[in-house]
Amino acid sequence: MADTILVTGGAGYIGSHTTLALLEAGYEVVVLDNLHNGSSTSLDRVARLAGKPATFIKGDIRDRALLDELFASHSISAVLHFAGLKAVGESVREPLRYYENNVSGTVTLCQAMAHAGVFRLVFSSSATVYGEPSQMPISETFPTGVPTNPYGRSKLMVEELLKDLAASEPRWNIALLRYFNPVGAHASGLLGENPNGTPNNLLPYMSQVAVGKLEKLSVYGADYPTVDGTGVRDYIHVVDLADGHLKALQAMATRDGVNVWNLGTGIGYSVLQMIQAFELASGRPLPYQLVARRPGDIAECWSDASLAAKELGWKAQRGLAEMMADTWRWQSANPLGYAD
Ligand code: NAD
Ligand code: UD1
Repeated sequence: MADTILVTGGAGYIGSHTTLALLEAGYEVVVLDNLHNGSSTSLDRVARLAGKPATFIKGDIRDRALLDELFASHSISAVLHFAGLKAVGESVREPLRYYENNVSGTVTLCQAMAHAGVFRLVFSSSATVYGEPSQMPISETFPTGVPTNPYGRSKLMVEELLKDLAASEPRWNIALLRYFNPVGAHASGLLGENPNGTPNNLLPYMSQVAVGKLEKLSVYGADYPTVDGTGVRDYIHVVDLADGHLKALQAMATRDGVNVWNLGTGIGYSVLQMIQAFELASGRPLPYQLVARRPGDIAECWSDASLAAKELGWKAQRGLAEMMADTWRWQSANPLGYAD
């Protein structure tokens, strides 16, 4: 019988693409999502693309009774844990909501998993846990740093608590996947990023400028010590990222304890390079202005992706042009996102 995977946050951006990849690979999937920032339409579309649905449970990872019932009624072999809040600015204004959702929520999830005898967990971490490294590219051997905001600290706290948990009980088998900058959308144009309100991240902001929803992009800082003065990041296609989760799940079957893997491409692009690539993909000019740096931003951040290549047999396949073309296809076909 196929393994059943619980995907928390499976109605969100990365979770929906990963749910699709799991279904396509033959897994059964149970999605738990409170729809705070996700959409059940994304799961309808996942079912259409996969030719079969995931089981959807609308609920919260902080709801222990619900989790106990879920684990009792489904034979779960592993949990992919995407559920959480991710808006950096909001985390500064409402830190307790972030610690409650991201940290306490993970504690409750782990308690319920242990109670049910499920010990395999993949956690959505972020390159933000490295803080501001003095050297590029960033490898997993680098020490974690000082994240600049409560969102980033919540990710680091969860990493630490998961390490403590694994040290206390050898049955835990945990992957900390440190994502660089996820972008792009499914090539069908049916799945993509659906930000609530004005986007904070570069690609959703650029897409909304291109469709005329926003007037122009502000480029935060043109005086960084980078190739053209603007910030450099490692953008990774969300479908490659989803595939990385499947490869991590497979690798965990023969590994113990906690494993940390960067999921990035190993290539950095500047904001101006991103604008140029987006204009090429969309065939539209992208109005922008150069403004002051955004507090908390670092100059550059890109991964050493060699450990995942070696240990997972995984390497991002999709280049910048494809990331942009897929983002544009999604945005132009769904100018209002999932509109629900
Ligand atoms: P997203 O907001 O699209 O997806 C998160 C999903 O979790 C949403 O569908 C939301 O409704 C759900 N959710 C939130 N709190 C919940 C709760 N308490 N109980 C149940 N469901 C809950 O975000 P995403 O971009 O898909 O990110 C997924 C994960 O990856 C997050 O943990 C995020 O912090 C992490 N991450 C994202 C990025 C990025 O740039 N997108 C980068 C690094 C790490
Ligand atoms: C941000 C978060 C990080 C989080 C990640 C994924 C901050 C400080 N960091 O990373 O914690 O894990 O998102 O959600 O918010 N840019 C512009 N104009 C814009 C938006 C962005 O010039 O309107 C620039 C930024 O300065 C940066 C690059 O584009 O150089 C990428 O920004 P963004 O998409 O927000 O990601 P990060 O800042 O890398």
